[in-house]
Amino acid sequence: MNEEINKEDYNFEPFADTEEYRQVNSECINSWVRIMKQKGISGLEGVLDVATGAGTMVQLVFDSLPETWKKAAVLCLDQSSEALKLAQSKLEKTVEKLKLIHSSIEDMTIPDQSVDIAVWGNGIHYLSADDQLQSVKRIKRALKPGGFLFFNTAFYEEARPVETLPFYRTQIKTAVQYMRDHGIKRVKTDTRTEAAKFLPRSYYENLVQEAGFKLVDAKEFAVDMHKEAWEYISAFQQYAAGALRGYPIDDAVNAMRDSVGPAIELHGNIDQDGNPYITRKWLAISAQV
Ligand SMILES: C[S@@+](CC[C@H](N)C(=O)[O-])C[C@H]1O[C@@H](n2cnc3c(N)ncnc32)[C@H](O)[C@@H]1O
Repeated sequence: MNEEINKEDYNFEPFADTEEYRQVNSECINSWVRIMKQKGISGLEGVLDVATGAGTMVQLVFDSLPETWKKAAVLCLDQSSEALKLAQSKLEKTVEKLKLIHSSIEDMTIPDQSVDIAVWGNGIHYLSADDQLQSVKRIKRALKPGGFLFFNTAFYEEARPVETLPFYRTQIKTAVQYMRDHGIKRVKTDTRTEAAKFLPRSYYENLVQEAGFKLVDAKEFAVDMHKEAWEYISAFQQYAAGALRGYPIDDAVNAMRDSVGPAIELHGNIDQDGNPYITRKWLAISAQV
């Protein structure tokens, strides 16, 4: 992870509030709830939400659960206390039994066989391959027999359809030009962030099996993202740092955000209202103990 990014900071919120983000994550969650029903689950006692952020996944899970399942206790785990505070204020009304755990997933210490499902939304790609495997194994121990792990990511090899690659290239080229125009130089040469690693779908399918889970389902969801959503995700520190390695983080954020406009104008498809968009894909994995 980039040295300049503080683990306690949480600045993902504007993107998490976009319609596109909520839509694609709802689709993933609806498919997970369908799977649980198909597998005969009729209620939940404990839910672990890994990398909670502002609690968006928990909110969407509760929107999608059958009424009688909503008594479940929810453990929200995040390495950022800023994120946990926000999640608490957002989830107070939705979740009756809410517990916050300030920890990285790598250091999680919740008791073995204590939860029915674990949800890990939009966060697994930040970890190294080795930490992912250890963390998925750790989650498996926390799950009851027959429990489920569900996770999703938009940072994997197939997330950027080939016809959308010119958008990313133009955005980076424009952002690097912004740096030159402002006289901003690279400060470090090797700061490859984990978010910059786009591992293939097959890697994630194998990961859960290597950790001892049964792979139940792997699905991809496409979402048409408009300019504002791209500006928010581009201004997310981890995203900007992964895309523009080595530059001071605040400058990388500004450059990436300001470069969305020219890139989407040039390469975007046009929707029925005349607005440009670029399609991004999300991978959703379901695994069972
Ligand atoms: C992109 S947000 C996703 C939030 C939420 N799960 C969602 O899907 O909207 C990623 C979150 O992961 C947290 N995070 C990143 N690495 C982590 C780790 N190793 N252990 C625990 N939390 C982590 C960050 O603090 C941040 O709140």
